[in-house]
Amino acid sequence: MKRVLTYGTFDLLHYGHIRLLKRAKEQGDYLIVALSTDEFNLSEKGKTTYHNFETRKEMLEALRYVDLVIPEKNWEQKADDVQNFFVDTVVMGGDWAGSTKFEYLKDYCDVVYLDRTSGVSTTKIKEELKLHEPVSGTNQIPE
Ligand code: CTP
Repeated sequence: MKRVLTYGTFDLLHYGHIRLLKRAKEQGDYLIVALSTDEFNLSEKGKTTYHNFETRKEMLEALRYVDLVIPEKNWEQKADDVQNFFVDTVVMGGDWAGSTKFEYLKDYCDVVYLDRTSGVSTTKIKEELKLHEPVSGTNQIPE
């Protein structure tokens, strides 16, 4: 069984996340998501999330592509995660391509970067909802 691992915050779950997770799962048979904790988001990533860790975890666990959710508590845990969970491939969105935070993992497993879905991010959703009352159905999954 080929095991795949990916990392992220996954706040305000959107179709960019879903598509990333679908393609990550297609890299193998079993998908683990290391989900950034609230503390890690705040202290290291400078992110305040709308949904707390438990809520984000519950939503990810409800997805058919996701087999297991574990906490991401720091930048250094990745090599241990790969070994402890017998991971074959780490998958990340293209925004992390070539990052020193992931490249060294090539000593432990395959590292695959997938293109981001254009036109959507948690940050964008938050900004647009702040700016105006959303017009029904204006943000759609691209062709
Ligand atoms: N992702 C993606 N396409 C998008 C948005 C995110 O493929 N349009 C991927 C990221 O590359 C990452 C994973 O989804 O591998 C989780 O990303 P995360 O940072 O939680 O989501 P963003 O929407 O990018 O959040 P933010 O705006 O807070 O950075």
